[in-house]
Amino acid sequence: MRIDIMTLFPDTVHAVLHESILGRAAKKGAVEINCIQIRDYTENRQRQVDDYPYGGGRGCVMMAQPLKSCLEHVLADGGDTRTRVIYLSPQGRTFTQETARRLQRDYDRLVLVCGHYEGIDERFIEACVDEEISLGDFVLTGGEIAAMAVADAVCRLVPGVLADEECFTGESHWDGLLEYPQYTRPENWEGREVPEILLQGDHARIEKWRRKKQLERTRDKRPDMFEAFLPQTEQDKLLLREMERDKERVPLTKPVTCRKAVPEDLEALMRIVQEARESLKKLGADQWQGPYPSEADLERDIAREECYAVLHGEELASFFVLSEEEEACYADIRDGKWSDGEPYCTLHRAAVSAKYRGTGIAEKMMRFAEEQTLLSGRRRLRTDTHRKNKPMQRLLRNSGFLFRGNVFVKSEPGHDEARQAYEKRLKKQGEKR
Ligand SMILES: C[S@@+](CC[C@H](N)C(=O)[O-])C[C@H]1O[C@@H](n2cnc3c(N)ncnc32)[C@H](O)[C@@H]1O
Repeated sequence: MRIDIMTLFPDTVHAVLHESILGRAAKKGAVEINCIQIRDYTENRQRQVDDYPYGGGRGCVMMAQPLKSCLEHVLADGGDTRTRVIYLSPQGRTFTQETARRLQRDYDRLVLVCGHYEGIDERFIEACVDEEISLGDFVLTGGEIAAMAVADAVCRLVPGVLADEECFTGESHWDGLLEYPQYTRPENWEGREVPEILLQGDHARIEKWRRKKQLERTRDKRPDMFEAFLPQTEQDKLLLREMERDKERVPLTKPVTCRKAVPEDLEALMRIVQEARESLKKLGADQWQGPYPSEADLERDIAREECYAVLHGEELASFFVLSEEEEACYADIRDGKWSDGEPYCTLHRAAVSAKYRGTGIAEKMMRFAEEQTLLSGRRRLRTDTHRKNKPMQRLLRNSGFLFRGNVFVKSEPGHDEARQAYEKRLKKQGEKR
């Protein structure tokens, strides 16, 4: 791709477009960008390029002659290349990624004409310009910034300029969506964590997460684009349905905090237990389908200071129990093994109020459990769940827990005693994974 930029400020434009990625691409020969001084083509001694407008009015207008002579010179060695002469103008069609793709695909050479002052003589536009392009609905003092934007956006689509095609096919505006959020080191920056899913190396799940984020942020930031977007795959359709369901959930508008539960929380805790019972029943799990966990169980957890309440504002949204005591039934693990014999904490009795399911509270609860484990000086967090409790298994995997095998708990007579055992090896903030 060759781009010739006709301008009154060739040095400025050259300096910008020969830096960094485009500068390297030009050195490699992937693109050629020339900046031509329009003033060199005047036919008057003062090298004047503009004059007063006919009919009166403010400012000056760039004359057609220097522009035409400059263009003829630029095109002189054009051969039969596919060339497009473009005038950067606030009256043109707004430049988009689609325009950049079309220009890169359909032409080998672009001539970008930069106006200045009040603009350029209309007869030059009529006689010589193929297309007018605007950077947006605002007025700049000259066409240079617009020309640089067009040249940059087109050149980065030329094969060989970026490392590979994926550098731009995954980006905002390529397929009618904005890009997903990006993060780089450190994992925790001023208390803000990188989403856990990006740290686990499960590429299929990362791809799905990223696609959902693309859809969500396009909906939130650019409703006009979202309205025009057509789902491209079955996964897109599923994700859009998931987003519809998400809308019905309580938004977390208040701070989410965690503290040790107190006896006054018992009533709210038991309400959450009851909701969890009903939901486990719907899943077909016989876990929590008897008296356990009873008020007495939770009273004991509170008295031992092992029960934690997770609050949304003042409202109790979920709870968990964290114990430093060795869990007797974890000694006999089958179909797998624990990572090592290091001391661990056990996450027992964790539940989220029905109203807060799917809001992100569960994920925050897991983070709190991890923080408490680290505060206790331990680096292993273990837990177990019923094989039919798929939401819990999903939560554990999404939170970075690994399935370690099967353990067997004491249960009500006739109930399934097998539990899937999970473990997470915790790292302190700043520690490498
Ligand atoms: C001050 S403007 C002239 C505007 C002109 N009098 C009008 O109202 O349409 C000077 C030059 O800046 C460039 N320019 C200004 N706004 C632009 C935009 N939104 N997109 C592309 N080029 C622009 C054009 O090359 C134009 O000739």
